[in-house]
Amino acid sequence: AGLAMAQQLPPLEQKDSYRVGFAQMESNNPWRIAETQSFRDVAEQCNWNLTVTDAAGSAAKQVADVDSMIAQGMDAIFLPPREERALIPAVMKARAAGIPVFLVDRQVDPAVARAGEHYVAFLGSDFVEQGQTAAQWLVDNFDGEEARIIELEGTTGSSPANDRKQGFDEVIAEQDNMTIIASQSGDFSRDTGRQVMETLLQAHPNVNVVYAHNDEMAIGAIQALEVSGRTPGEDVLVVSIDGTRDALRAIINGKMGVSVESSPFFGPVACDVLNRYAAGGTIEPWVRVEDRVFTADNAADHIDEAY
Ligand code: AHR
Repeated sequence: AGLAMAQQLPPLEQKDSYRVGFAQMESNNPWRIAETQSFRDVAEQCNWNLTVTDAAGSAAKQVADVDSMIAQGMDAIFLPPREERALIPAVMKARAAGIPVFLVDRQVDPAVARAGEHYVAFLGSDFVEQGQTAAQWLVDNFDGEEARIIELEGTTGSSPANDRKQGFDEVIAEQDNMTIIASQSGDFSRDTGRQVMETLLQAHPNVNVVYAHNDEMAIGAIQALEVSGRTPGEDVLVVSIDGTRDALRAIINGKMGVSVESSPFFGPVACDVLNRYAAGGTIEPWVRVEDRVFTADNAADHIDEAY
């Protein structure tokens, strides 16, 4: 069955140089900028003629960007799909045009499009596990009687928002002394995270834990907490995901408890996977990235390499 499926994927001829497209979804946060830079950094040594687009936060523009890469006849396309459903037509169209697609960092809905069949592989982290790790850190480190948690969700309809919520919420549901009192999207953005937190603080002044699906929203929430006269890290424990420089600094300053790593450095693994695919190798459907956990114990050791 594996062979039959693999034959449906567009092949990639071995060449001295590849025309590679990287269709970035937005560039409004350090994570995205670090990811794009990681692709640029490997382009020369991988013999890529790299085209980068920026969809500026619009799934429709990201679909159009992939369209134009198809029209330009790229050899391969690396795509971080902003939303699980909206980018499926782009994946299908590239495949129909004979261009292998590799999903990077986010997934599309697996009920509709599958690795090894519609696209070659997914390169990325286990987002469910990241949510579970964040929740388990909270369970192990919360020393109050009752945790009242505000959850700031990522972009609605994106795989990290869905999966980080699932992983976190299922661990919290097993705790008698922990409740998620509100859960709302902050679109993975610092500004939106701050605004949503300001509003939720009015309705839920007794909050004592914030779980943000990424560091940018966590930093926004910290700003809102401080403006309201609270002391993050003391009155309210902040739990997050990514491992950005600002988050590590907040951990060192005692404002954030944990940031579960989600690495944006996909360039080297993308290069390796493309070369293996061109050499006729079978690519595993999920090329997994292993993530670390940053806390007060190790944040200072990693801040220099952070982005
Ligand atoms: O898909 C990964 C997520 O997207 C990162 O956690 C977030 O910061 C980024 O925008």
